[in-house]
Amino acid sequence: MKPEIRIFKDLEELSRAAANLFIEQAAQAIEAQNRFLVALNGGGTPTRLFELLATDYHESVDWSQVHAFWGDERCVPPEDAGSSYGQARDILLSHVLIPDANIHRIIGELGPAEASKDYSLTLKGFASPPLEWPRFDLVYLGMGEDGHTASLFPGSPVEGSEPTRPVTAHYQDRPANRVTLTPAVFNSARMVAFMATGEKKANTLLEVLGARYNPELYPAQRIDPKDGRLIWLVDEAAASKLPQELR
Ligand code: 6PG
Repeated sequence: MKPEIRIFKDLEELSRAAANLFIEQAAQAIEAQNRFLVALNGGGTPTRLFELLATDYHESVDWSQVHAFWGDERCVPPEDAGSSYGQARDILLSHVLIPDANIHRIIGELGPAEASKDYSLTLKGFASPPLEWPRFDLVYLGMGEDGHTASLFPGSPVEGSEPTRPVTAHYQDRPANRVTLTPAVFNSARMVAFMATGEKKANTLLEVLGARYNPELYPAQRIDPKDGRLIWLVDEAAASKLPQELR
């Protein structure tokens, strides 16, 4: 499906648009299914979104019906600054009335293999048959300067039909012990919203959106929901290399 590309002046405007997607998707899902399944991302880009959801926007969501999951996690305990769960908890989840039982974190401290297996079971508990995992109502993703998304890095394995995968590759010279959901799970979501900002991502954004399909090199290209919407929320700086026909 062709992505919808939305360009914003800056991170603030982009984050407000991302918060509005949360509110709209939550309202629709709760109306239709009495619950809203959302997968959050880590990294620096979503922190303003999390702040907005915890403050200006918190009364616009029925948090009792929200179930929070993660698209990937670093294999560290929640107290570690690198924990995506820890970040979302500190900025968002501890400030809203989401029941503890609705927070489904990847248990990074178990290590990649165990945490991956454990999270497959968590996802199974919310499966939308015949899938062995849920159809997320909304998935937020970021994109690295190298075109990775979640913890799907360039050159990472693609075989297998499992919903989660342990990641142990070295990434930018740092050991990257992580767990990631796989493209099959992201691609069965009802909506995937990428967020990318900054000039440093402009070339990669052009490659991912405009150039030929080369997902080995640009894993973000693997994200293409079969029966859902794919929305790219980007700022002017990240969009600066996009040709007119993609804007
Ligand atoms: C993480 C995610 C990763 C992230 C991108 C973009 O770091 O938790 O796994 O895929 O979304 O690397 O990160 P920034 O938002 O920090 O640029």
